[in-house]
Order: sequence, then C-alpha cells, then structure tokens
Amino acid sequence: RVNILKRAYEDEVGKDIRHMKNITQMLRLYFTIAVDKAYPGLADFPVTVTPTNNPKFGDYQCNVAPPLFAMLKGKNVGVANPRQIAEAIIREFPKSVDVIEKLEIAGPGFINVFLNVEYLIEETKTVFLHGALPAPNPCKKRVIVDMSSPNVAKEMHVGHLRSTIIGESIARLMEYSGHDVLRLNHVGDWGTQFGMLICLLQDKFKDYLKDAKQLPVSDLQTFYKEAKKLFDEDEDFKKRSYACVVQLQSLNPEYIKAWNLICDVSRKEFSKIYARLDIKNLVERGESFYQKRMESLVKELEAKGLLEDDIPEGGGALQGIRKIMHPPDKSLPLIMVKSDGGFTYDTSDMATAKNRIEEEKAEWIIYVVDAGQGTHFQSVYKCAKRAGIWDPNRVRVDHVGFGVVLGEDKKKFKTRSGDTVKLADLLDEGIKRAGDKLREKGRDKEMTAEEFEAAMTSVAYSCIKYADLSHNRNHEYVFSFDKMLEDKGNTAVYLLYAYTRIKSIARKAGVSLEQLVEYATKSKISLSNPKEHKLMKTILKFPEIIEKCGTELVLHPICELLYDIAVYFSEFYDSCYCIEKDSKTGETKIHMDRLVLCEATANVLKQGFEILAIRPLHRM
Ligand code: ARG
Repeated sequence: RVNILKRAYEDEVGKDIRHMKNITQMLRLYFTIAVDKAYPGLADFPVTVTPTNNPKFGDYQCNVAPPLFAMLKGKNVGVANPRQIAEAIIREFPKSVDVIEKLEIAGPGFINVFLNVEYLIEETKTVFLHGALPAPNPCKKRVIVDMSSPNVAKEMHVGHLRSTIIGESIARLMEYSGHDVLRLNHVGDWGTQFGMLICLLQDKFKDYLKDAKQLPVSDLQTFYKEAKKLFDEDEDFKKRSYACVVQLQSLNPEYIKAWNLICDVSRKEFSKIYARLDIKNLVERGESFYQKRMESLVKELEAKGLLEDDIPEGGGALQGIRKIMHPPDKSLPLIMVKSDGGFTYDTSDMATAKNRIEEEKAEWIIYVVDAGQGTHFQSVYKCAKRAGIWDPNRVRVDHVGFGVVLGEDKKKFKTRSGDTVKLADLLDEGIKRAGDKLREKGRDKEMTAEEFEAAMTSVAYSCIKYADLSHNRNHEYVFSFDKMLEDKGNTAVYLLYAYTRIKSIARKAGVSLEQLVEYATKSKISLSNPKEHKLMKTILKFPEIIEKCGTELVLHPICELLYDIAVYFSEFYDSCYCIEKDSKTGETKIHMDRLVLCEATANVLKQGFEILAIRPLHRM
C-alpha cells in the first residue's frame, strides 16, 4: 500500500515541481508510511492530518496514535499507551523530509508538525514564478455538471441564479482539479405549458409562421400569464391546448416551428444573463432533447417489466391509467407515463441519467439543483440502478443542493409588490448600487469613464456571486446589497481592494515583474518575520482547501481562505515594510524578498477568484 501511494505521489507530485503541493496530503502520506513501518500488516488505517489553531502546537496535527492504541489493544499487541505509539511513529517517520522542521508529541499522544520555513520560502517562490498551478490529476474523470436550467417562458428567478453561480464555480473547480467537464443546461422547454402557449399564439397572431416579428418578444411572461388564465377559465381553449401538446409531442413541423419561436425568445434573455455573469461553454440540452429517448426508455422499462399500472389518486379509472416505477425500497415511485400518455419531469430525468451514462460516458454527474428536489434525484437514481442503467461503483452521482434566497425581512426573496425578482433587474440594481458606492468614495474622479464602468460592473457581479458562494450552500442566505457592498469583512469588495492594493506595491516601487522574476530565480530569499511566515503558510493551504471543496462539493472554504489571506496580508503589510525610507539618508530601500511574497499572494488570490468566476481589477 505504501509503495503504491508513494509511486502515485511521485508520479503526480514528485517530478513536476512547478505546481503547488498539498501539504496535508504529503503529511498524510508520510504518516501512513511511518505507521506501516512501525506496525506492519495493519489493515487500511485511516490517517488524518488537520491544521492546528494554536501556533504553540505547530502548524498541523496528526491524531492517529489514540485510535491506533485502541485498535492494537483489541489485537493484544503489547503497547503501554498512545504516547508510546506516537514515539514509534516518529522513529519511523521518513527522514530528510524537507517540508518539516520538527515533530513533537503533545498530551496523550498527539503529534504536532512544525513546518520548515525554508520549504515555505521555496514554495512561495514557485507560486510567484508559476502561479497557483494545480497538481496533475491521475484520476481524471469525465464530469457532467447540470446547472442553471431555467424554464422557457417563465422568468429566470433567484433559485436559477444560485444554480448558475454555484454550478459555474463547481465546474471551474473540477476543471482546475484536472477533470474533463461538460456543463449542461437542462432547460424546461417541453411539456404541457407549451400547448397553451402555442394555442394562444395561433389565436392572437394568425400569421406568426410567416412573420415572426409580431411575436410578443418583449414580455413572454405576460403572454404566459394570459395563456394560463384562458387555460384555467375557458374549456374550449383548454381542449385546444391539449390538442396542441399532442401535435407538438408527435413533432408536427408547424408546431415545432411555433415552439422554436417561443424558445428563441427565452433563449435570448437567458444568454444575456449568462454573458453578464461570465458563464461560458454552457451547452443547452433541455427536456425536449429527450423526447425520443423517453419513448424508447419507457419501452425498455416496460419490456423489462419494471413499470406498473396505477390509478391517480382521486382520479378514477375514467381518467385513465398511468405508469409508475417503484424504487426497490418502496419509497415514492416515479411517474413515467401520465394517464394522457405524456411524460413527466421524472421521465425526463430518468432519460438524462441514461443519456449521460451511456451516451456521454460520464464518470461523475453533478446536479446543481435546489435542495427541495433532493428526494426526486434519489428516486431517479434508485430506479436507474434498478433498471441496470446506473452502476454506483462506476459512476459517481451527486446532488449539489442549495437553500432558498431570503430577503432582508428573512422571508422568501420577493419584490416590494410580492412578485418574483427578475434577474436582469437584480443585476441592474447591483450595478447602480455599486456605482453609488464607488462615487461615494470619489472613485469616479480618479478613474476614466471606462475604468469606472469596468469597476462598477465587476464590483456588482463579484458581490452578487461572492455573497452566494461564501455561504455554505446548504443553508439559506439573506440577499442584501448593503451587506455585500461593504468594504470590510468577508466580502468581494474587501478582497478586490486587497488584490488591487497588493498588485500596486511593486508597481509603485518601480520594480517590474521581469526584474522580480530575475531576482527570484537568482537570489536566495529570506523571510524571517512571523507575519511573513503566517502569510506563507496561509497561501500554501490553497491545494488542501481545493481538495476539501472537491470532495465535499462546497465553495465557501475557498472564500474563507481568500479572506484569511487578505487579512494576514494586511497584518504583514502593516508590520513589514516593502519599501523603506531611511530617515537619515533619505534613501529608499526596496525589500525584493517581500515583493516576491506580495506577488505570490496575488497569484493565489487570482486563482481563487478564477474559480469563483470573479474578475479582479487593476484599479478600483
Ligand atoms: N427546470 C428545473 C427547475 O426550474 C430544474 C432542472 C434541473 N435539472 C434536472 N436535470 N432536473 O426547477
């Protein structure tokens, strides 16, 4: 086991020295080697390494000795106490490991790790020279991220905003981690609502097929409301709507054309939002894509005897019989065919599972959809497994859920008049508020109009994204422009300022990047102040935080790390001069070593921003 681990580690990390190294991962490996040597033949024994909170206890801690003691005692191996085990582990710990300064035993056998400053300096230099590069990934997977997924003819709301923002960052995190990512937009573009939309289109715009210009492009939502009202109140309209659905689902070209016209209107609106939020490579593959696949899937399931006839509750046999599929554990069944023969959301998601596993060859499927749909995805994948479509050992599936967005009154986020908030309006308001804030600080007087415009939009979109991503996605969060635009605390504004400030230090000292690179390549760097050490240790945590986020599919730890970096940077900057003026001679001394640390810090912040889809600014 150790050899395999070691080889994997060498392949992955050892040869290529330009990328950032995951310190906890390295320490885990060394401790595993030591445990294996001290107590050979133990079955897989989990070794965890965690950062410490108190510098007295070093930088990291390995608490493997106490549980190991309990285990060995059970096996009647003669050890006196956990401390003795800790001593044995330290004795067998690989020698000449450059990352460590010393190991110490504390309390009942905890092993404290003190990092080696020379190592920190070398790594900081690497981050300065090459950026915050990820280690090559030997377990590269084909990942599908199902994200955004608004519904045609209905307005995109804040729930879809969360799915878009979180989905994009999850996708970027996966890409940074070396995976091959496909972003899919599962747009709600199929189903009964199109019957009434097309019906109203036929009634109101007789010539719409010849002249698409007369379509109600500006306000599809009002059009939707009008159709819905008629559908609910007018029996004849309802009947004709149903007939339209049948025509559409049998792919009658005239109806497909009408449907396309409607989808195009929504598509244009959606793509404006995506452009503003910097969402690229999002492939639209809505529910309609699966119509043919749903037909053959239902046939397949029927042939396998997996579908059951069912009479809808309160429906009675007159309304017809629908077809359902039970998960093996008898939890809520999926409705696969409605009594009118149509398909449902359940059918479409069974079809997404099959398409993504069998046709797209996905090895990891991630659904970024609100937490309320958790049971839906559980049922879908239980049934997919039952049908032999999904093998959990081969394909990892995650539902990345998220909580609702609340207004400042702690109630569901709504406009003053109680309507759902339109995303485009929300973004506009953000820009306005960001502009006010920047003007308050007199920034408009220091920048060109273009720079001001860039600052305003970047601040607005960054704040909106960061406010979402910095909260644990499982929780609801309060949407507040006032809070997110504050320039203190864990906000995008604070981080963006920190970044621009850091980037301006070398520039103001008159040192070019080329000069600094040359210096860093040729000179021995020395950084001996505790504030410098703290900052280096924090920026070098980036890979382990990435690892954590990738495993748990969360993003707030990245935000927390970036915030820590900005805070420790300002502590460093306050007590360590980068440019010093001699009070007697009046000469300025430039601390090149510190400038290297500044730029390395900026590189990590920049990479973090990249994953959060935030664009830093040169001036703000
Ligand atoms: N359109 C759905 C909604 O607005 C979300 C779809 C999510 N993706 C999926 N494969 N079900 O709630």
